[in-house]
Amino acid sequence: MIVRIGPNTFEIEYEGKTLAQMMREVGISLDLPCNGRGTCGKCKVRVSGQLSDLTDTEKRHLSSSEIGQGIRLACQAVPTGDCVVSAYSSAGSAAGNILVEGTPMQQQVVSQPLVKKDVVSPPAPAMDDQRYHLDRILDSLAELRPSVDRRKANVSLGTLQSLPDTLSKSDWQLTVAHTGDCVIAVEPGDTTGEHYGAAFDIGTTTVVGYLVDLSSGSQVAVASRTNPQVAHGADLISRITYSSQSVESREALRSEIVSALNDILNELASKAGVAANRIYHCTVAGNTCMTHMLLGLDTSSLATMPYVGVMGRAYHDRASQLGLNIHPDGLITVLPNIGGFIGSDTVAAAIAAGLDGRSGTSLLLDLGTNGELVLVHDREMFACSTAAGPAFEGAQIVHGMRGSAGAIEAVAISPKGLSLRVINGGEPMGICGSGLVDAVAELLRVGIIDFTGRLCPPLELAGRVDPALASRVKEDERGVRFVLFSNSEREISLFQSDVRQLQLAKGAIAAGFSILCKRAGISCSEIDTVFLAGAFGNYINKTAAVRIGMLPGIDEERIVPLGNAAGTGAKMALLSEELLDRADRLAASAIYIELGNDPTFQDEFMNAMMFMEGAAG
Ligand code: FES
Repeated sequence: MIVRIGPNTFEIEYEGKTLAQMMREVGISLDLPCNGRGTCGKCKVRVSGQLSDLTDTEKRHLSSSEIGQGIRLACQAVPTGDCVVSAYSSAGSAAGNILVEGTPMQQQVVSQPLVKKDVVSPPAPAMDDQRYHLDRILDSLAELRPSVDRRKANVSLGTLQSLPDTLSKSDWQLTVAHTGDCVIAVEPGDTTGEHYGAAFDIGTTTVVGYLVDLSSGSQVAVASRTNPQVAHGADLISRITYSSQSVESREALRSEIVSALNDILNELASKAGVAANRIYHCTVAGNTCMTHMLLGLDTSSLATMPYVGVMGRAYHDRASQLGLNIHPDGLITVLPNIGGFIGSDTVAAAIAAGLDGRSGTSLLLDLGTNGELVLVHDREMFACSTAAGPAFEGAQIVHGMRGSAGAIEAVAISPKGLSLRVINGGEPMGICGSGLVDAVAELLRVGIIDFTGRLCPPLELAGRVDPALASRVKEDERGVRFVLFSNSEREISLFQSDVRQLQLAKGAIAAGFSILCKRAGISCSEIDTVFLAGAFGNYINKTAAVRIGMLPGIDEERIVPLGNAAGTGAKMALLSEELLDRADRLAASAIYIELGNDPTFQDEFMNAMMFMEGAAG
């Protein structure tokens, strides 16, 4: 059969495959948030031609106007003959509004990186000085840096093989890139002005990379991508399920993320005009699942009790072992995890917030696909991970989408009516996490949603809610919904099921918060600062978060958004050997609390789902 996808035409053998499977085979990975289970309704494509009949799943997710326009779900529709796919959203293409910047570091970082560069000028060989080339270079280096032990220094075969050529170009002035006990490069002349490293924050949804000048400590370029693994599901469990299918699928996930890192490295290098072989070190922060997948480790045990992964300590290796496109002997450091799903992204965010050196009582909340919480009280640290679910990233919301162009990111109700703010302006295409929290908080305030989370049907609103607002509440076979936007082509609404998803997510966070406070022996209101990290944490309206009771007992003055704190922490660790050590100590000393094991969790969770400030406090 002939299938045309955008400008390309493919001849495909008919094997009863879905459109999504077919497109993946020809190299087009669609965004499949529920990994094709038919629960998210997000894999919409516009297609014409010969296809299987609409499935019940499609009838549930598609409006009659969408069906009329030829919209199908790619994970459900099966081509039965020639067809043309004219519109789709591919995974890993649109970077959207990826949050790349953190707030400035909470502490001054002096640039003392793990990988140093030193210029040495060893004497040329002579009849009365017959030391080997390498020995004379290492002896000179040890004179500069007494900690270097030339007998133990690890030098790669590649460096040795190219040494005669390097020396022939050097006139015995050389630059050595090294960590003290590991030589990364020996270069002719003085190249200390070209000394770079890259820091990565690998999120479940997005990947951000920073190129840093290791001499000056300044960031010289930043680049980001959607994590290409979203083609296997928006949530971690979908990806673990896929990864556990076979060695090949685990390898596919590993190679997808390595490719994304290399794409980012290429972009960083070209933006800054830096050669790849002048990048000597990469630090990586990510949740436990993401870093396991980067290293090609088996993740299946992370999804089943007692949720134990392969490794939590920091991982150091030559970057070439992973196929990263930097100096062939450059290093990679994957930062350490705390426990369970609390990975090195949380450790990096905690370093960025300066939690380990802080007195008083503070909380770090990293909000993304999961919600990670770290509480510091009297220099003791407690951490837990809540299954906040992908609601905040729009995945299980009927008209949800990520925070990219076209997403409703803010909702306000005033005497003048309803107003929406859309990312990049224009007509809305869907609603993202911050818009969802805003919408629910506003509808709670005006009484369209009650404290149990019920969207009140139109009949109950008459006489007590502004008629213009009440007219936006509709009820039909899909239940009650509040229409945020509609025109002849589309309607963007908040459904009852969306409110329930938000209740589950915020209930899990509030319950985790409450349990951490109990373990620390304090009440929730004793927290002096709440650091909000992660993309969603940065964009969320603090007033709305307080109103829905996400952090009971906390007022908005104490909430400090940190931006992409994991990325900031990864940069700090790249710049400072001491901070790399601090990350190790922080990860080892934090007390990991498994919420599923806490006998009070279910009660806390049920309480916290209600929309009452202080419900879980
Ligand atoms: S419904 Fe198709 S990927 Fe979720």
